[in-house]
Amino acid sequence: MNNNTPLQTLVQSVFSPTAFDFWASHLNSTWSWQRPLARIVARQVAAKDSVTLTLKPNRHAQPFVAGQHINITAEINGSRVTRSYSPSLVPNQSSVFTITVKRMNGGKVSNWLYEQAQVGQVLELGVPFGEMTLSVLHQQHVFLAAGSGITPFLSLIHEWVAQDALGDVTLIYWAKTKAELCFVEAFSALTAKHSNLQVHYALTQEPDDLSHINARISQEMLENLVPDLNQRVAYACGPAGFVEQARSLTQEQAKDFYGEAFSLPLIANDNTEQVNIHLTKSNRTIRVASGQPLLAALEAQGLKPESGCRMGICNTCVCTKQAGTTEHILTQDRDHEAGSSVRICISSARSDLILDL
Ligand code: FES
Repeated sequence: MNNNTPLQTLVQSVFSPTAFDFWASHLNSTWSWQRPLARIVARQVAAKDSVTLTLKPNRHAQPFVAGQHINITAEINGSRVTRSYSPSLVPNQSSVFTITVKRMNGGKVSNWLYEQAQVGQVLELGVPFGEMTLSVLHQQHVFLAAGSGITPFLSLIHEWVAQDALGDVTLIYWAKTKAELCFVEAFSALTAKHSNLQVHYALTQEPDDLSHINARISQEMLENLVPDLNQRVAYACGPAGFVEQARSLTQEQAKDFYGEAFSLPLIANDNTEQVNIHLTKSNRTIRVASGQPLLAALEAQGLKPESGCRMGICNTCVCTKQAGTTEHILTQDRDHEAGSSVRICISSARSDLILDL
């Protein structure tokens, strides 16, 4: 079905969308025929190694809600690179939103956004995704955040406050050092206004001078800070190891548990068996170690398959497997079926494979 307006149809008969984008971007960097783009309109240091970028999307960006993630694509040294971020503030009346990015060791996009992204530059946006949204209002919650995992919680709390729907929320936020804590002022302002919001900080790599906790997540800490855990819904966001530990410590007591990890767990792979992967679209065959995540294995050989979250959520990396056996890295489920869809970021090869890549 053609949903174009008459003006779009007229323009399209003269320009291709690509040509239109090329010429339009000379007039306004976020004008595009159909690509969701956002211009950086402000940047501010959020904490040590973290920066908050305020983004103004164009009209093609899809709406999203607090707690979701969005893929952000930047052009870095001539290559398009995509990573997922959970906005720390979702679009408001002025239709801007913010992402807070912590630079990671070796992180191509996070380091570029932290060091080089400037006001006026344009990023491409993907389709929003993620389940940790505002479905449960006016309830008792415990939010467990580690590192960058704090961003969806700030955005959820702001949304609940805006809707006058903030229930009883206890937030525990872990960082390595005090200097790496983001949004301390924002949380102070929120707790000053809302007595039903409790915020506790935990530092894992330095002594604490603000009566914070100085410890990793543990049963004892949860018993001290959340004695009524059995009446709360628990949410955890952070690295995979943290989310798994939060799950195992709260799952049996809390009313419900939602977890979102922004990294894959470290997987010991001592399997040195090599398999052949034939890529039909690029007509190449490469050899990789069986058991290695396919996305990482292909990238290590210089290939650039599309990817986003790199943890099995956004579906950006999905491709069709024509033949062979893959294994889901987290569940160890094997798939032998020809023609099935494979998310290569969380799948490994368990035989020779043919992939439509
Ligand atoms: S990159 Fe998001 S599912 Fe694989």
